[in-house]
Amino acid sequence: MAELLIRGDNPLNGDLVIGGRKNSAVAVVPAAILAAGNSTLENLPAIGDVKTYTEILARLGAKVEGPHEGTLHIDATRLRPEGAPMGMVKRIRASYYLLGALLGRFRYARVGLPGGCDIGQRPIDQHLKGFRALGAEVTIDHGEVVAQADALIGTHIYLDIASVGATINIMLAAVLAKGTTVLENCAKEPHIVDVASFLNAMGARVVGAGTDTIKIHGVEELGPATHAIIPDEIEAATYAIAAAATRGDVTLVNVVPKHLDSVSAKLREAGIIVEENGDWIRIIAPDRPNAIAVKTLPYPGFPTDAMPPMMTLLTLASGTSVISEGVYESRFKHVDELQRMGTNIRVEGRSAVIEGVECLHGAPVQATNLRAGASLVIAGLAAQGETCVGGVEHVERGYEHLERKLRSIGARIDRRASEASDANAEGGDARRVVNLGRD
Ligand code: EPZ
Repeated sequence: MAELLIRGDNPLNGDLVIGGRKNSAVAVVPAAILAAGNSTLENLPAIGDVKTYTEILARLGAKVEGPHEGTLHIDATRLRPEGAPMGMVKRIRASYYLLGALLGRFRYARVGLPGGCDIGQRPIDQHLKGFRALGAEVTIDHGEVVAQADALIGTHIYLDIASVGATINIMLAAVLAKGTTVLENCAKEPHIVDVASFLNAMGARVVGAGTDTIKIHGVEELGPATHAIIPDEIEAATYAIAAAATRGDVTLVNVVPKHLDSVSAKLREAGIIVEENGDWIRIIAPDRPNAIAVKTLPYPGFPTDAMPPMMTLLTLASGTSVISEGVYESRFKHVDELQRMGTNIRVEGRSAVIEGVECLHGAPVQATNLRAGASLVIAGLAAQGETCVGGVEHVERGYEHLERKLRSIGARIDRRASEASDANAEGGDARRVVNLGRD
């Protein structure tokens, strides 16, 4: 395990290049296995989940080269539909996309149930409902999902929940089905459009991605293609909020400002200056933020993945803020850790009431999942004194080159092995063992 040592109370200033979107990368990489031949994926973020996914595909018989400088070559000609190591599959929430891609190409898939982070139950019933509607028989056998079909036939599917994962997974299963599939009540996240663009570049006929109704006209086969992943608006939102929390002045480059509209709107409501144009946004935060109300919703609403970082900003606001979590039944595990730093937060069901304080104080804290870890890093950057964030592996699953990027805009941050700090610790609480849940 490793941890980050952060000396806070130092405004972030400068320019930062945003990387490829994590949640697009972990969908486009498995989508490449729908075609034999060599696909090229570009602008992949240098994060743990992408690395693990390429290892899984290699174990399934694909030839993978990279990622090098964000570029990955995948030749799935000799891929087999089963054999994904359960341990690896459980480490990545998005391993469920293997089901749709393998079922779509081979009419058969056997994949372990995905891991999940401590942010609610996160079932995949809507994914399985879609596969069954297409004609697959789906069973759970000793922790693995087995899906098989003589043929996949296009049909009309209505999602009970506008699930991002189910929307993408059913697209992956339907692109090679016979006939047309109409998928309703879809999620509309930008990376759903990104995956559909890649599928269409491979020869698929997906229409309507980004709206709540997607039509997939099945085709006979797909061919390899080249695709560049869209920028990561959650990474951008995280750094924008970090700039605001440290009263800094940061310009984020290689973003799609439109994808950040809900985050920019809330930052402006909190009194932060947000300028945007073309492929950049600039965040200028001279003063303490105003208290606001935030409700997380599926896109284009405020993204749930930016909620933990936003909570950190609001702990410093002048007044009382309220955050309502509209996507997961619980996503406030990071509150206990923030409280160690002097915040004043009361959790009531799916809402958190945040009394703003003048300043935070550095403390040893523990990341339990990706975005909770991001909220603690931002708290350390804003706090007076030194903060030690344990479980940094969680954060590095979704944020590439974290220390390097933060240092480049003025953060005083170092990474070290946790054992070293445990060995030096004077008493203090034993480091809690954290499961590396994947989301
Ligand atoms: C994706 O998760 C992202 N993960 C999550 O990002 C993100 O928070 C989420 O979408 C919402 O935007 C990846 O893309 C790998 P959902 P996913 O299906 O697909 C319930 C991060 O930090 N649901 O849209 O699992 C579910 O429990 C991660 O990058 C069902 O009930 O999200 C949740 O309450 C965290 N049945 C809600 O729907 C299902 O079959 C939304 O889930 C599927 C979902």
